[in-house]
Parts: sequence; C-alpha cells; structure tokens
Amino acid sequence: MSVHSNGSSSRVTIASLRRTFGEVVALDSFSLDIKPGELVTLLGPSGCGKTTALRMVAGLDVPDSGTVEINGNSVTDLPPSKRNMGMVFQAYSLFPNMTALENVAFGLRVRGIDKASRIKRAQEMIELVDLGKQMNRYPNQMSGGQQQRVALARALAIEPNVLLLDEPLSALDAKVRTHLRDQIRKVQQEVGITTLFVTHDQEEAMAISDRVGVMNKGNLEQLDKPDVLYSNPASAFVATFVGAMNRVPGLIVDSKTVDVLGQKITISNTKHGLSKGSKVTVMIRPEQFSISSGNLATITERSFRGPMTRVVVELNDGTKVDLDVASAQSTDMTPGKRTGLKVSAPHALVEAI
Ligand SMILES: Nc1ncnc2c1ncn2[C@@H]1O[C@H](COP(=O)(O)OP(=O)(O)OP(=O)(O)O)[C@@H](O)[C@H]1O
Ligand SMILES: [Mg+2]
Repeated sequence: MSVHSNGSSSRVTIASLRRTFGEVVALDSFSLDIKPGELVTLLGPSGCGKTTALRMVAGLDVPDSGTVEINGNSVTDLPPSKRNMGMVFQAYSLFPNMTALENVAFGLRVRGIDKASRIKRAQEMIELVDLGKQMNRYPNQMSGGQQQRVALARALAIEPNVLLLDEPLSALDAKVRTHLRDQIRKVQQEVGITTLFVTHDQEEAMAISDRVGVMNKGNLEQLDKPDVLYSNPASAFVATFVGAMNRVPGLIVDSKTVDVLGQKITISNTKHGLSKGSKVTVMIRPEQFSISSGNLATITERSFRGPMTRVVVELNDGTKVDLDVASAQSTDMTPGKRTGLKVSAPHALVEAI
C-alpha cells in the first residue's frame, strides 16, 4: 500500500539549524539529510535537542538560523499546516469524543475531502495498523498501544510527505513497546514514507532505523547505520551511549597502537595526538573480553542472563570490567577467583586521561 496516491516519497534536507532559548543552546548547528523512504532516528540523552530538532522540521518552532528543505524546496518559512507532515507524539493525543475511525478521518475532513472518500481512506489506514476490529471504539475503550496505533494511522491518513515521531512509545510498557516499534517499522516500510523518529532508548533506535543520528548538546555527533554505530563509534560519547562499554586503562605504544593489560590493540581514533607512554582510557565492549588463565583480575560478580552471563571482574588498580560470557562456559567463574583477561577487539577508541 502507498501513502501517496502518486507513490512518491520525499527527501528532507536540514542544514545548520540553530535554536537558542536565552542562554540555552538547544540546537547548535544541526544538519541532516534524510533520503526518500528512509527511517532516521535521533538518539541522545535528555535535553540534547531532539524534540527541538523535530519541532523545527514540523514548523512548530522557528530556528534562529538554518533551513529545512523538502525535495529541494525550502519549507523554513511555511507554517505547519503547509508542510504536510504527519506527527505522533509521546502523549496520546486522540480526540476523546471521536471513535478511532473518526479520529483517523478528522485530518481529511479538515482538508475538505468528501465523506465517502475519507471514510474509505480512514478504514484503509485503520486496517494498516491492524485495528479493523476496534475502529468504532472510543479512545478510553482502547489500550495505550492501540491508541498510539490510531495516532499513527491518523498521521498517515493525510498522505504526508514526512512522518515525524517524538518518543511515541515511551508511555507504554516494555512488551507493548517492543511489539509496537516493530509494527511502526513494518508500516513505515510498507508505505515507504520518509520518517524522522526521536527516542532516548538506544535499543529501540538500533532495532527500527536505517540510520541513527546520535545527538550531543545540540549537535549531531555521528550519523550511521546501527551496526556501524556500534562497531565503529566516532567518539567516546557515542561509544558509551550506544551499547555497553568498558573504560579500561591503557598505555600508548605508538600512534596506531595501545597496550591494554599487556595486549596490543589497534587504535581507531588515530588523530588522538598522544605521545608514546601516555596513560589513556580505552573503550572495550563486554563481548570483546574473555576469561583466560592468569592473575590480572579478581571475579567479583556473576549474573545469569539467559544464553549469556554477565561476569564482572576487578583489575588490580580497582577498575571494574564487565564481560559477556556464554552461560555454558561461565559455571566455574565464581566470585573471589583470580583470573586472566584476553582482549579481542579489532580496534578501540582511546581517550586522554
Ligand atoms: N521553550 C523552551 N524554553 C526554554 N528552554 C527550552 C525550551 N524548549 C527546549 N528548551 C531547552 O532546550 C534544550 C533541548 O530541549 P529538547 O526538548 O529539544 O531536548 P530533548 O533531547 O528532546 O530531551 P528529552 O529526551 O528530555 O525529551 C533543553 O536544555 C531544554 O531545557
Ligand atoms: Mg524530547
């Protein structure tokens, strides 16, 4: 099914957006190019500027400077009603006195579409989000997850150029959340709509996105496919924000090599400018460590997590290191035991101490 009668989808080009609130720089210089049909997620800690960025694209707020273009045409000075964007927010925003179907049809009525056409279109959209059986219910007769699906159907009904979603799942419990995020992705791919999704949940971002943009203090720090973000983080901030990360002591051997626990690892950020012998912090993921024989650390904790077990060890200098070990191999890793540690990382980020 296509959202657009003409089946096309839009490119969104955001260039150097800046927005300040008094002393607060909510967006510094924010640029992002979203390809037609792509789902890009903005991921970052609270207050980093995600909602501000989304509101600028929607036209709900005006930037100090910078531009937003749809298919090469500037919409920077257009009001929200002229941008043709579908939006879903965190809070359920359905009209309580309208049924699911009426809620979905509402935006079409505002656009002057005749009754028969809008009911047909609203029914199609309700079916798309699997709510055919609930279409005559009122919001207070539906679960939170169902209400957000109605909100999604309503956003898509108007044949928007772009779909904007600001933490649409954060009010839902974990199980519904996972199910609905997969459904949003499925629907988004089915209709092929260009989508900007905002979340502070990294697992959610990784699961549904074509590309994820990690934001930090009003800027986009890295924009990449989820697996690239995980395996090749561009900065310590991204490395620590996306997935679990250990920070362990190391020594610079040369510009390309660092020594971690007596083992040589290739440095990924070679422009670190640190001289030989400098003490640094090295970023190593839990699955890049394994237990070996030796006397480098003491096992302090072991917690079963299904197929994998999280083992925590303490290095001689007191640094704690998390490891993920296949549960079948972890049975003799009892707290108190001395151990060696092997590092198998293709490369790692270093940071000056
Ligand atoms: N209307 C406003 N007036 C003053 N400051 C604002 C306003 N809107 C946003 N800010 C500030 O701008 C910064 C970015 O806010 P924004 O809402 O974009 O963050 P966010 O990344 O969406 O955070 P969260 O994950 O908590 O939703 C914050 O410091 C916030 O306090
Ligand atoms: Mg926000």
